[in-house]
Amino acid sequence: MAEDFNVKLTDKYYTPDPSYRQNSWVGDYNKAYAEFKNDPDGFWDRIARDLHWFTRYDKVKEWNFPHARWFIGGKTNITYNCLDRHVMGPRRNKVALIWKGEDDSERIYTYRQLYREVMKVANGLKKLGVSRGDRVCIYMPMVPEQIISMLACARIGAVHSVVFGGFGAAALNSRITGAGAKVVITADVTFRRGKSIPLKHIIEEAIINAPTVEHVVVLRRELHQPVEIHREMETDFYDLIKDVSPDCEPEVMDAEDPLFILYTSGSTGAPKGIVHSCGGYMVGVYYTTKNVFDIKDHDVYWCTADPGWITGHSYVVYGPLLMGATIVVTENTPDYPDPGAYWRMVEEFGVTIFYTAPTAIRMFMKLGEEWPDKSNLSSLRILGSVGEPLNAEAFEWFYRVIGKNRCPILDTWWQTETGMHMITTMIGEPMMPGFAGKPIPGVVADVVDKDGKPVPPGTGGFLAISEPWPSMLRTVYNDDERYKKYWNTIPGFYAVGDLAVKNKDGYIMVLGRSDDLIVVAGHNIGTAEVESALVSHKSVAESAVIGKPDAVKGNVIKAFVILRNDHAPSDKLKNELLYHVRITLGPIAMPSEIEFVTTLPKTRSGKIMRRVLKAKEMGIDPGDISTLDE
Ligand code: PRX
Repeated sequence: MAEDFNVKLTDKYYTPDPSYRQNSWVGDYNKAYAEFKNDPDGFWDRIARDLHWFTRYDKVKEWNFPHARWFIGGKTNITYNCLDRHVMGPRRNKVALIWKGEDDSERIYTYRQLYREVMKVANGLKKLGVSRGDRVCIYMPMVPEQIISMLACARIGAVHSVVFGGFGAAALNSRITGAGAKVVITADVTFRRGKSIPLKHIIEEAIINAPTVEHVVVLRRELHQPVEIHREMETDFYDLIKDVSPDCEPEVMDAEDPLFILYTSGSTGAPKGIVHSCGGYMVGVYYTTKNVFDIKDHDVYWCTADPGWITGHSYVVYGPLLMGATIVVTENTPDYPDPGAYWRMVEEFGVTIFYTAPTAIRMFMKLGEEWPDKSNLSSLRILGSVGEPLNAEAFEWFYRVIGKNRCPILDTWWQTETGMHMITTMIGEPMMPGFAGKPIPGVVADVVDKDGKPVPPGTGGFLAISEPWPSMLRTVYNDDERYKKYWNTIPGFYAVGDLAVKNKDGYIMVLGRSDDLIVVAGHNIGTAEVESALVSHKSVAESAVIGKPDAVKGNVIKAFVILRNDHAPSDKLKNELLYHVRITLGPIAMPSEIEFVTTLPKTRSGKIMRRVLKAKEMGIDPGDISTLDE
């Protein structure tokens, strides 16, 4: 199976300097894993005790298949653990957040300053009538206010639903209405490659037919050309926090209360609102940030993800702040104004832990070693990757050119649904390029067949998880049946939806999705969402989209389109369709290729066989086509 995916397998392990293991929080992996296996609840209890609970839980977990509850009876607030705890302790004046803008501007917040800003926005939201349990949609670029808004929601018990700023109006509308958001927080523009890109009109369009929205808060950044604020519904971000108190008591939340909803593409139908809890999510991301990244107080930590994705939630915002770390955030693109931009930031801020995505690493590879070589990267001590398989070539380049053959690389496998890292090679352990590694202590995972039977090393199968973990999704918002499907596909397991293979030492290589999701530049795109965007154009009768391997982005989208009778194929129409997808779903979901066809391969029951299209496109054997309709 590994051959089908065209992966390079090596037998070479890279062994980090022993000091990494000696000085790590986790210590010896096997020992830590055994401690977890001997007493899973005791293991999680010891971790949860590091954090503050207004009322201690009476029980670690209740597993009522397929629903788990964690830290039963516990009362807490994640912002208390991210902010108050540090402000009352020795980190009051420690830098929490360094933000660098496109124009080289910088903003720096100490823990005390961040704490005050969060409380002001929390009070501002209260003024708008937001209270515990209300949903707030955050649709913003990567600015400090995006993070502050998330924390402000959590402070008052409102449930945030962050939507990545690159989504278009239709995608945004379905996420706003899906969550029933009462307030949307947005900005006038996002800055990209020296240009300002308007955002506000997308919100204006997206809230038409979104009856739950009562207010839109607009962060105005273009000060010399301020956008107009429509006072009937809109409030300026700074007006919201003018004259409000910088004190706001944290709402006392039950461990099982929802903390946030984050939409992720489903393989069929509408995107799924993944629901995470206040207590279990907090413990899971705290544990992994500490033990996987091995963060210490002196670290300067930079995760390049946008908080609009789960990586940003868990490992830009909540995990590092729970650890009291100094985080770096930028709105910059990696190759603007030139391909040295990121490496200059590593040198300038003395970044010690750098966490990014394979698509970025492959882009850097293409741009050439001369760019990182211009900067002093000696501050780096740990590197990380997430979002899609880190192929062996990219691993080796990252290790040699960025890590100078010295920094361990954490290839972390996890999902929006898991909330936290699940599989990686823990710090100090030997690393195998191309393989994420083993389940971390706290996680039981394996590669199994469709009946849940483990497959032997070297044989491909489905990646699956067999025990609940604290930061697991609690449900799919308003659709618990869809939640249950995760646990009902492979008997006894949570079905991840990925194909994987294990080596003889138990290291897991993730090969790709087993369903109709396409991972483009590390972002999950549902075939269904792109197809329905295409079909919503007047010229399209039917469409099917597939992922095609791409050297930099992992995959790109190819769309096959059947036109309605009264429309003829043309290049102009192709461009119009691309534009249509860009406007409805956003640039991230745009196909890179459209082919007009007259038929699509379907099963006798009428289901499109994308697998057959993909095999034809790639010139490989389509496998079993016995269900294909003549
Ligand atoms: O296919 C796997 C891939 O990304 C999917 C999860 O996507 P999402 O929910 O958007 O979360 C991405 C960030 C955690 C997985 O099912 N994936 C994620 N990390 C890896 C990966 N594939 C291989 N190796 C990884 N390290």
